[in-house]
Amino acid sequence: MEKARIKDVPQMHQLINYFAGKELMLPRPLSEIYENIRDYFVVRQGERVIACGALHVSWSDLAEIKSVAVAEQSQQQRIGAQLVEACLDEARELGIPTVFCLTYQPAFFEKFGFSQVDKMELPRKVWSECYSCPKFPDCDEVALVCNLG
Ligand SMILES: CC(C)(COP(=O)(O)OP(=O)(O)OC[C@H]1O[C@@H](n2cnc3c(N)ncnc32)[C@H](O)[C@@H]1OP(=O)(O)O)[C@@H](O)C(=O)NCCC(=O)NCCS
Repeated sequence: MEKARIKDVPQMHQLINYFAGKELMLPRPLSEIYENIRDYFVVRQGERVIACGALHVSWSDLAEIKSVAVAEQSQQQRIGAQLVEACLDEARELGIPTVFCLTYQPAFFEKFGFSQVDKMELPRKVWSECYSCPKFPDCDEVALVCNLG
């Protein structure tokens, strides 16, 4: 588990958009990954990026876990769990008490203490990027929140 480097971005983009093509997560443009590169963790096997995930700060008391993706042949080896834990650790280090996510895989996030909430309970600030989402306004993702206490 490492922080992402700029040369990882094309592979991260490919990984995220592979799963987005299967409607398992939302697509991300290259530009957005470059702009937010400091949010991302990756897992590498040699030069190959086999997993990525990001923690994005939304506000003084809130951050979002985004774009958690593990290559199919590397799934079920606790790599996704390590990514989520790394994001939660970073939120703790920053002093951010609440982490949320929007996902089609709520049961995965529930393993880490997240619980489902009504999307409307999340502050409006969170929705800023939703306007550019291809699914807006018919969002079918599930919102979950984890309180770090
Ligand atoms: C969902 C995903 C990130 C899980 O990664 P992974 O490395 O395979 O998961 P892990 O091996 O770390 O699993 C950790 C735990 O979650 C469980 N789990 C894994 N995927 C799950 C899922 N889709 N739903 C429910 N539980 C899941 C595992 O069984 C394991 O449970 P355990 O602790 O009881 O043994 C991965 O399957 C993936 O990248 N999927 C495609 C993209 C996607 O759906 N991303 C979701 C976030 S937007």
